[in-house]
Amino acid sequence: MTTFVHRSAMRTAWYMVAESADVDADPVPVQLLGDRIVLWRGPDGVVIAAPDRCPHREAPLSTGAVAEGVLTCPYHGWRFATSGRCIEVPSSGPDAAIAPAAHLGCLHVQERYGLVWVCPGQPATDIPTVSHDDNPAFRRINSGIQHWSVSAPRMVDNFMDISHFPWVHTGTFGGAQSPVVPHIDMEPLDDGWFGYSYEVEARNPASAAATTGSDEAVVHRKMSTGFHLPTSTRSTIAYADGLEHILLLCNTPIDDTN
Ligand code: FES
Repeated sequence: MTTFVHRSAMRTAWYMVAESADVDADPVPVQLLGDRIVLWRGPDGVVIAAPDRCPHREAPLSTGAVAEGVLTCPYHGWRFATSGRCIEVPSSGPDAAIAPAAHLGCLHVQERYGLVWVCPGQPATDIPTVSHDDNPAFRRINSGIQHWSVSAPRMVDNFMDISHFPWVHTGTFGGAQSPVVPHIDMEPLDDGWFGYSYEVEARNPASAAATTGSDEAVVHRKMSTGFHLPTSTRSTIAYADGLEHILLLCNTPIDDTN
């Protein structure tokens, strides 16, 4: 049986796999759609993504070292350039020909929004658009990566679902919300997102005052919840005083259950 993460269409999308700040001097291991991937930076700062499996004896390349953009496998010292080409097999000597099978097949990789995005196949779509990122009136805060022991579609379901707010988020914004969900029409939103818009009364405890800009016990929110294939979600929150929050929620499928 083909599992969710192994469906071929899943390999044509972009997924956030790391924060840019986390890819520095050393190789970084990440997992996507059940595959182990290594990230590293070239001398020009550009990120490279490749299978985290040496073509020689399958050692994890993420346990190797990077010097001037060249990744060295820790097992027998094969060296890989930023193109993925194997440029040295130490045991064969400097003049030996290098077999085509010794090279790494690099993956499509981009950085956007301070995040590293990988497409493991041939990209059929672009990275989800968050045009607010280009607006100097907004400040971007990358909040770190959390590991959830749940399938990515279930995470998408969670972020598209407002009916749990008054049951789960009782200590924060859900505390003032009616449990009755109004009629919702799904529709195209801005920036290519698809979803719905709604308005809620949100509890505003003292711990949230700095975020909402209000010390009122309850604040009114105009919100939208959007979806972008296959697993990205976006929430927008607008307050009466003009303050806006845009939340990009990247639900990256590590495998079928994470
Ligand atoms: Fe990488 Fe041998 S396993 S060089």
